[in-house]
Amino acid sequence: MDAVDLRGGFDLLRMLRLTQASWSPTARWHVGDLAWERRLHGGPAAEWPTRLWLEGDVDRPVAWGWITRPDRFELVVGRSEDESLCLEVVDWAIGVVGDTAPLVATVTEDQAAIRAALARRGFTRTGAHGQHYLACDPGAVAPARAPGGFNVRPLQEGEDELVARVAVHVASWSSTTMTRDVYQRLQRTWPYRLDLDVVAELNRPDAAPQFAASCLGWLDVDHRVGELEPVGTDPAFRRRGLAAAVCAESVRRLHAAGASRAIVYCSADPDYAAPLALYRSLGFEPVTRTLELRRN
Ligand SMILES: CC(C)(COP(=O)(O)OP(=O)(O)OC[C@H]1O[C@@H](n2cnc3c(N)ncnc32)[C@H](O)[C@@H]1OP(=O)(O)O)[C@@H](O)C(=O)NCCC(=O)NCCS
Repeated sequence: MDAVDLRGGFDLLRMLRLTQASWSPTARWHVGDLAWERRLHGGPAAEWPTRLWLEGDVDRPVAWGWITRPDRFELVVGRSEDESLCLEVVDWAIGVVGDTAPLVATVTEDQAAIRAALARRGFTRTGAHGQHYLACDPGAVAPARAPGGFNVRPLQEGEDELVARVAVHVASWSSTTMTRDVYQRLQRTWPYRLDLDVVAELNRPDAAPQFAASCLGWLDVDHRVGELEPVGTDPAFRRRGLAAAVCAESVRRLHAAGASRAIVYCSADPDYAAPLALYRSLGFEPVTRTLELRRN
């Protein structure tokens, strides 16, 4: 099996395509999630060893592995997670960090072949809470009801919009890495769509746009699955129903664009129950959850 280290934008697109092709309700990655995670900040490429496995003749990716130094390891293996290919990817990751170094992989509890390969190389469960993976029928979600003084709408083109979009993300997540240029690069990454990037705007006629909450929707057109990633409300505007309103509008737009299923991931930490309560209030239900597995 041929394999190459990630060489640039075209290989990222191939990673995204494989992730989309391999999606299932219990898959670790949705294509939107991967686009978001790879474009969330400037991308310290030297700290992100990433490798693609290719089917020789047709040069088609069948697996990828991604290490975020020092010790985080992610992988997608097509072909129904063929165990020998899983082992090849796991062995690559061990080789990158070194046999005695710690390495931590995240999988869903349903990924039997990947879990078996990791177990054969000595990975065991940690006590991390992981994430709930939730899903709902987007046609059944009640329409958005924005509180007074706010307008829920998709993001538009333009510098003012971009700057305000970055500001609401930074405020919501206390982000130290998100910038205008990072967001603009994300917007140029397939399958980002402006019409699925929903914001709650303060009604302030004649003023530059200011957003209080946001929800970015991603559509996998092949599986008709829309994902919400990320969702956030500026702390100055929380508990007014704004996250619920942007999520409901994002789900409505995903449905209108062809989604028959909406998904979202959230923390399974019982001490941080707000996101789970938010998504349940919209009609999302748990489907699976992630496990963290570690060696050394
Ligand atoms: C989670 C978050 C998006 C909620 O935003 P919000 O605008 O305050 O949420 P809403 O006002 O729309 O709340 C809708 C429902 O979510 C639940 N909820 C929201 N915040 C909650 C909290 N702090 N504690 C418990 N439940 C909460 C409630 O069920 C609430 O309905 P209610 O107010 O009628 O009880 C916001 O706290 C945030 O941005 N956190 C940081 C980023 C983050 O964790 N995003 C989610 C990642 S999956």
